[in-house]
Amino acid sequence: MTTTRISSLPSHIGQTVTLRGWIRAIRSSGKIRFIEFRDGSGDCQCTVEAIHPEAFSAFEGLGQESSLALTGEVREEPRSVGGVEVSIQAAEVLHISEDYPISRKEHGIDFLMQHRHLWLRSNRQNAILRIRHRIITAARGFFDQDGFTLIDTPIFQPGAAEGAGTLFDVDYFGEPAYLAQTGQLYLETAAMAMGKVYCFGPTFRAEKSKTRRHLTEFWMIEPEVAFAELEDLEVLSERFLSYIVQEVLTHNRDDLESLGRDVSALEAIQAPFPRVTYSEAVDLLHHPDLHAKLEAELAAEQTRLQELQKEISNKEGQLAQVSKAWKVEKLNREIRDLQEQAKELDLWIQNQPAHIEDAKTFEWGSDFGGDEETILSKQFDRPLIVTEYPREVKAFYMKRNPSDPRTVRNLDVLAPEGYGEIIGGSQREDELDVLMKRMEEEGMDPEPYQWYLDMRRYGSVPHGGFGLGIERTVSWICGLKHIRETIPFPRLMGRMMP
Ligand code: 4AD
Repeated sequence: MTTTRISSLPSHIGQTVTLRGWIRAIRSSGKIRFIEFRDGSGDCQCTVEAIHPEAFSAFEGLGQESSLALTGEVREEPRSVGGVEVSIQAAEVLHISEDYPISRKEHGIDFLMQHRHLWLRSNRQNAILRIRHRIITAARGFFDQDGFTLIDTPIFQPGAAEGAGTLFDVDYFGEPAYLAQTGQLYLETAAMAMGKVYCFGPTFRAEKSKTRRHLTEFWMIEPEVAFAELEDLEVLSERFLSYIVQEVLTHNRDDLESLGRDVSALEAIQAPFPRVTYSEAVDLLHHPDLHAKLEAELAAEQTRLQELQKEISNKEGQLAQVSKAWKVEKLNREIRDLQEQAKELDLWIQNQPAHIEDAKTFEWGSDFGGDEETILSKQFDRPLIVTEYPREVKAFYMKRNPSDPRTVRNLDVLAPEGYGEIIGGSQREDELDVLMKRMEEEGMDPEPYQWYLDMRRYGSVPHGGFGLGIERTVSWICGLKHIRETIPFPRLMGRMMP
């Protein structure tokens, strides 16, 4: 008996097929049962009628997430998800699930995170996982088609590349070693061997920040190109991001819509992207026009909060007048949703005056934090390329800017709609003595980096690259509020389970 996947049902109309999967929900109405069935490729509605008594009674007492093999005829049904429905003639119960912990009622985020292994089965998580898969496939496909060679870089590494403060150390047979913060240093040497290379792997940062943007373990894809200068990297990043977004739009439009994503915002993601230098970005933060815009946004959100509160009390009033259980449940759900929105908005409104003040008083020389990135990236409908940051706040390997030695030839790409940095990269310092001096200033022992310095001794050339954080990209493309839902099993400060 071959199994048909739900996603392919539209090409089996009129045929008898066997599906294998799990029950999301069952509803009975007299002599007919409606089963919401899922198999990982999608969901479909199945019906079983009492005229098939064996199949009909097989569903007796089956809880949510019981597993079955169902055989029936595929019918066109425009009102159902996927446009088809399956009329069941035979049902084989594979396993009965009882008291599945995640029900249709609302659950708090802590509960869902503790049950992440089960939460992955929900429609919403399925959609996010499919989009994540597409982003990764597209990212690899882009480099594969563009003449890059995949180079796997080590995860056990002898030293820091992105600052000692976020290293995870491990005992490597009595020697100190660290989990990779980036594959970059190895990748640079591979670029001298192969010209255009990329690596893709897990990356570790002992980030002591509990924000919606930070994981301690995340996936990064990093290209590195010999003879590339900063301007080449700007073009590469813009081609790369546009391609990824287009691929998701082509293949995962339904998933985006099911997440409630504003698809038109993604359709705008096309080259060219706006570019500003760090200094221009600081001027933008100081500009009175920006402050006026932020104040107006704050006033608009205050009005929206009042409207939300009015809507909540209206619904609470209606609650006193309805008696049917399903109506009470529906109203309660709507009230909870609105309360959640109001709570979030209230928090935003409370914090915004401080953010506006921070923008006004931001000093040239500091790194942009999440708040500045949010403000800057909200001003554009495409990713914003910010270049040439102060060298003090950036990594030792970045090339000094010949036209302004206070800055380096780097780029950060900030995703729009307030998502902030998704790409960080730079042209690399290719002069041995300049690099060694910079390492000395940083208090770095050059000894463990001799292999890295060798490429500046034997045929040094301009080169550079960047890293794209997969999870931040998933968060932006899916329109999520927090990074925790972008990876199957997130590792956050304070969370290692399951
Ligand atoms: O800007 P970062 O630190 O750059 C590097 O690691 C370079 N060595 C890359 C290169 O030039 N080859 O990190 C790059 C990207 C960030 O833009 C962000 O998307 C992601 O990695 N990232 C994180 N994602 C989730 N959680 C964290 N703690 C992250 N830190 C960085």
